[in-house]
Amino acid sequence: MKVIIFLILFTGYIAYSIVVYTRGTDSTIIYENKEKEQINKGKLLFQQYNCTSCHQLYGLGGYLGPELTTAISDVQRGELYVRAFLKNGGNRMPNFHFTNEEVDALVSFLKSVDTTAITYKRH
Ligand code: HEC
Repeated sequence: MKVIIFLILFTGYIAYSIVVYTRGTDSTIIYENKEKEQINKGKLLFQQYNCTSCHQLYGLGGYLGPELTTAISDVQRGELYVRAFLKNGGNRMPNFHFTNEEVDALVSFLKSVDTTAITYKRH
């Protein structure tokens, strides 16, 4: 009996692992090449300017600035609000003098982060 229960649990575990490790989340969100390029450019800028030293994504990062994972879809913030900060900085947020193209790329990156934050959003 124990052996049967073990086998049932073990096959269940194996099947579950296969599903989890072979089915990524990539397939559910499909970007066109141009959009992909923008997102990657924004991600590089995010790394280059070390935004994580002050901001968190998915709860990881510095705590001087606010969490940015859902900044784009947040009803109290949103894209225009984010753009304003990227363009001008804030009281403590530095003004990095980004070009409009760089702001676009950062917004694309933050948007892509936002769309993956399904379980992270507060309703
Ligand atoms: C020196 C710390 C610091 C760095 C580095 C920094 N920020 Fe900020 N940021 C802040 C602070 C603090 C605020 C809150 C407003 C204020 O006090 O100026 C903020 C606000 C923002 C906001 C508005 C979000 C909100 O919820 O109010 C956005 C968007 C943002 N930052 C994006 C970025 C991006 C993108 C980068 C990297 C290019 C970056 N920040 C780098 C400190 C920083």
